[in-house]
Amino acid sequence: MTKVTVVGAGNVGATCANVLAFREVADEVVMLDVKEGVSEGKAIDMNQTAQLLGFNTRIKGVTNDYAATADSDVVVITSGIPRKPGMTREELIGVNAGIVKSVAENILKYSPNAILVIISNPMDTMTYLASKVTGLPKNRVIGMGGALDSSRFKYYLSQALQCNPNEVEGMVIGGHGDTTMIPVIRLATYKGIPVSGLLPKEELDKVVADTMVGGATLTGLLGTSAWYAPGAAGAAVVESIIHDQKRVIPCCVTLDGEYSKNDICIGVPVVLGKNGWEKIVDLKLTAEEKDKFDASAAAVHKTNDILRELKVV
Ligand code: LAC
Repeated sequence: MTKVTVVGAGNVGATCANVLAFREVADEVVMLDVKEGVSEGKAIDMNQTAQLLGFNTRIKGVTNDYAATADSDVVVITSGIPRKPGMTREELIGVNAGIVKSVAENILKYSPNAILVIISNPMDTMTYLASKVTGLPKNRVIGMGGALDSSRFKYYLSQALQCNPNEVEGMVIGGHGDTTMIPVIRLATYKGIPVSGLLPKEELDKVVADTMVGGATLTGLLGTSAWYAPGAAGAAVVESIIHDQKRVIPCCVTLDGEYSKNDICIGVPVVLGKNGWEKIVDLKLTAEEKDKFDASAAAVHKTNDILRELKVV
């Protein structure tokens, strides 16, 4: 039996659970939230779609009952407050650090072998925090930011190319922040054809700029953080792990010298399989990309330092 828990049944968590169920990624999906009745209600609502949509995954909702999450293979952590228009992801750190720390500790009491997928913001720093406070092997702590940002990158590329987004390849590496993410234009392709030969520089620059503020644009429109793509991005990461698909997805992971970085969790392409992230793919960055990656890592280090000031790590 495969089991996935999603902690936090807000917009992102519930969407993630819904995608996991609909795609039958696991036999059982548990949603846990602190708000009485919310997980239970959303779980029943989703279970009532099973016969409409023809899926067999069972969904269970619980209020703070960590025992119900026992023996989960993968646990997705979405807990914390989302950003409001005008806020950066980094501004959420004070509130979300305490929440993510306590969730990670509680989860491991019941699922000591679980792989953790972190969605809470600021995502790179929350992944670093989860890694530090749990002491888990590094391959079992994964932030999903790059999966989401790459999907937004491919969307904007497909808009510019006026093509099906499924025909586009593209990766975003670096931090999951409005100024720290790095859409790697050099490696983006349409059916294997480099997009740099298909679109003028101004259009490519616009795709990059739109991708970087993709989350902020939606926060401005919605009044809160986006949820469909963030939830689906989390589910895609889980699916590759649970089904041992070995998909290459940019994710936030601990670097021990890879990309010349240490003591940091930041986005790089990784192979995702049953052991969590199994391999880091070296993109052999150009000097210009490397400069961007260095600047991104410096910004993430700075946000991580706040955890030390707050004494949560
Ligand atoms: C976003 C939030 C989830 O990028 O970080 O929409």
